[in-house]
Order: sequence, then C-alpha cells, then structure tokens
Amino acid sequence: MKATILPALCLCLLAFLDGSCAASAADMAAGKELATGCAGCHGANGVSQTPLTPSLAGEPDDYIQWQLVYFRNSARKSDVMGPIAKSLDNPAIRNLGAYYASLPPAKPPPAPPSDELAQVGGKLAVQHRCKSCHGDNYEGVGPAARLAGQREDVLLKALRDFKSGTRVGSGVASMADVTFGLNDNDMQALARYMATTQS
Ligand code: HEC
Ligand code: HEC
Repeated sequence: MKATILPALCLCLLAFLDGSCAASAADMAAGKELATGCAGCHGANGVSQTPLTPSLAGEPDDYIQWQLVYFRNSARKSDVMGPIAKSLDNPAIRNLGAYYASLPPAKPPPAPPSDELAQVGGKLAVQHRCKSCHGDNYEGVGPAARLAGQREDVLLKALRDFKSGTRVGSGVASMADVTFGLNDNDMQALARYMATTQS
C-alpha cells in the first residue's frame, strides 16, 4: 500500500502547488526571511525549545509543505497554525519547505541503556515497521515526517491525536492504522525512543 500511496502524494503535491508538474525552483533566501516570523515558536534554527511545538529543521521538504497546506485548508486543525497558514501563498509554502529542509536537525543526546522506556520503544518501532515509511534512520521521507530528534512531547501528542482521530491531515489512514494497534504505554515508549534517536 505504502509503495503506491507515497509517490502518488508527491505527484499531487507538485501539481497542487505549481499548477503543473514542472516544479519551479524554491527561493531559499525568501524562505529564510519568512521563517523569522516562525522562530519565536519553532526556534531560531528550526529547533524548538517551546513545549508542544515541533522542531522543523531537517524535516522533509514535502512534509513541511503538506502540513502547511493541511493547516491552511483546515484538514489539520490548530488554532495557532490555522490562521498563520492562511496567510501563506503557494510560493511562500514552497520557500519555507526548502528552507527548513536545508537546516541541520536537532541532535539530542542518545538515551542511556538504563532508559527502559526507550528500549521498549525501539522494539516496538521494529515490530510496527515505522522505518518502512519514515526512513531507515527515521529521518523522514516525502510526506512522512522526520521522527529522529523530534521533541518527545510533540511525538506523543501526534500519536495520541492520530489515534483519537483529532489529527487527520492527509486523509490517507496510514497513521490511524498504525496507532490503532498501539496503547498509550506503547506511544509513550515510541515517543521517548524517537526523541532520543539521532540521524
Ligand atoms: C505562536 C507560535 C507559532 C508560530 C508563530 C508558528 N507556529 Fe508552526 N506550530 C505551532 C504549534 C503549537 C504547532 C503544533 C500544532 C499541533 O498541535 O498540531 C505547529 C506546527 C507546525 C507545523 C507542523 C510540524 C509537524 O511536525 O507536524 C509546521 C510545518 C509549522 N508549524 C510551520 C510553521 C511556519 C512555517 C511558521 C511561520 C510562517 C510557523 N509554523 C509559525 C506554533 C507556531
Ligand atoms: C504506512 C506508512 C507509515 C507507517 C508504517 C508509519 N507512519 Fe508515521 N506517518 C506517516 C505519514 C504519511 C505521516 C504524515 C501524516 C499526515 O500528514 O497526516 C506520519 C506522521 C507521523 C507522526 C507525526 C510527526 C509530527 O512531527 O507531527 C508521528 C509521530 C509518526 N508518524 C510516528 C510513527 C511511528 C512511531 C510509527 C511506527 C509505530 C509510524 N509512524 C509508522 C506514515 C507512516
């Protein structure tokens, strides 16, 4: 299922944002300029120090663009990001995607072997094949987010939101399917593991 859906999403993203499949080059400098308005919450270098606010540095370009489109059309609900995304046109979204994707991701200290929650999370990640969509090092691929080094509180909230149906986003049920098989302890373990993984 994954193999067919992910490329299809990438193609429609290009078509949607450009009006054709010929992608025009993103303007990185313009993206950087716009990102000064995001830094107060998402961090000066896209590494967030703000509770429940995601780091954006090193996210896949497509992932950033898709989430901004979902916030803009209210497919993904957020009182904070909804109005911000509504002020962004397609070139702005493209430029922001290119800029944040170019930044080095957060490199948190690895979990010590004594961190049992992280150990459990690592096993669950293998069992549930998170790599098959999120990349061999959980660095994110296309419309699937980077998980490695993301804030633990953000990861846990996202998993809970997918499970409860609060976060729908793409409308493709990948994460609803994944979280259907997870209980809250599992989600806490996965969030700890991913938040302490570097890539
Ligand atoms: C007032 C604080 C604030 C500002 C300013 C802000 N954001 Fe956000 N952003 C948030 C919060 C909080 C979330 C998490 C929403 C949720 O709970 O789902 C978020 C989520 C996101 C996400 C989704 C990331 C993910 O991993 O799911 C993207 C992309 C994003 N913001 C981009 C931006 C951009 C680009 C700007 C500037 C144009 C910006 N934000 C400005 C607070 C902010
Ligand atoms: C079939 C593909 C697929 C699998 C398997 C998968 N994911 Fe995802 N995941 C996605 C996609 C696609 C998104 C973006 C969803 C959206 O845009 O609404 C996502 C988003 C997420 C997010 C939100 C990240 C953020 O910054 O907001 C988290 C957390 C996450 N996945 C964790 C996991 C974990 C943990 C596993 C394994 C237990 C997993 N995923 C397995 C496809 C997958």
